[in-house]
Amino acid sequence: MSDLAIDVRGLRKTFGSKVAVDGVDIAIPKGEVWGFLGPNGSGKTTTIRMLCGLLRPDAGEGTCLGFDFRTQSEQIKRETGYMTQRFSFWEDLSIRENLEFVARVYQLPKRRARVAATLERLGLVKRQRQLAGSLSGGWKQRLALAACMLHEPQLLLLDEPTAGVDPQARRDFWEEIHALSARGITVLVSTHYMDEAERCDRIVYILNSRVIARGTVAEVIARSGLTTFVMEGEGVRHLLEELRNAPGVDLAAFFGAALHVSGTNRSALERALAPYRGRPGLNVHEAPVSLEDVFIHLQREVHS
Ligand SMILES: Nc1ncnc2c1ncn2[C@@H]1O[C@H](COP(=O)(O)OP(=O)(O)OP(=O)(O)O)[C@@H](O)[C@H]1O
Ligand SMILES: [Mg+2]
Repeated sequence: MSDLAIDVRGLRKTFGSKVAVDGVDIAIPKGEVWGFLGPNGSGKTTTIRMLCGLLRPDAGEGTCLGFDFRTQSEQIKRETGYMTQRFSFWEDLSIRENLEFVARVYQLPKRRARVAATLERLGLVKRQRQLAGSLSGGWKQRLALAACMLHEPQLLLLDEPTAGVDPQARRDFWEEIHALSARGITVLVSTHYMDEAERCDRIVYILNSRVIARGTVAEVIARSGLTTFVMEGEGVRHLLEELRNAPGVDLAAFFGAALHVSGTNRSALERALAPYRGRPGLNVHEAPVSLEDVFIHLQREVHS
């Protein structure tokens, strides 16, 4: 048996003349949590749908959980939990009733015990009688995760599971994901949140249907070649426009009251900042490059 839960190469999908996914390779070791990032429309959902056998690829080969992802989708589905980007429930059924219904639809054996165990695992016991329609966003996500965990899958494909959920609920959700990973379950999770990317073992960044960066967050940041300086203090609000257009500056943006200025050519960036150093009341210092800066830079590079 391979140590890879997902091992696919050359994934491609077109819709009419639109290329949605183009030559995507993904290899995820069992038990790891990988983040899938990229702008809207870059091909994340389409890739995930191909991985779990819901969409036929135009090209590509490989395996999910050891099964050929093109021909053995039934076996893959049996061991994969897929949380769709826009899931829905029966709003006038309770949490427990929703789970029982899903268990019945999938003809799972030992339904009552399974539902009880899943309610317990995901901390839903106290709320089991609450109607799904009356749940807050965070609890809805939890119910959705419970529903895709009922059949005890080995692989979880989560498509923006925390979109629109408050920070505490996102944190709780991620604690659950890490607990699942500790039990050996492999997770591929798409997200637009940088803090969530940082919780992943590795990330894959897709842009215009192609993977253009991958690795640990530290590796992706290091490979970008960016340097960031932060400017704070008197008059900094007036500097954005002039610095944005200065040679050597690739990115400039405010984070609170601090102006972050980044570039790939360190000496050109330092030259651009030299006139501001030593200005009374203005502080200029180097700071760690953020993942968000890297993604925005990659996006601009491809579009320019
Ligand atoms: N069924 C479909 N028919 C036609 N075009 C589609 C279909 N599904 C996706 N697309 C197109 O394929 C491209 C990739 O879409 P996809 O939904 O995979 O992106 P995404 O990365 O998941 O975006 P988001 O972050 O907004 O969820 C988009 O241009 C989208 O409009
Ligand atoms: Mg999507």
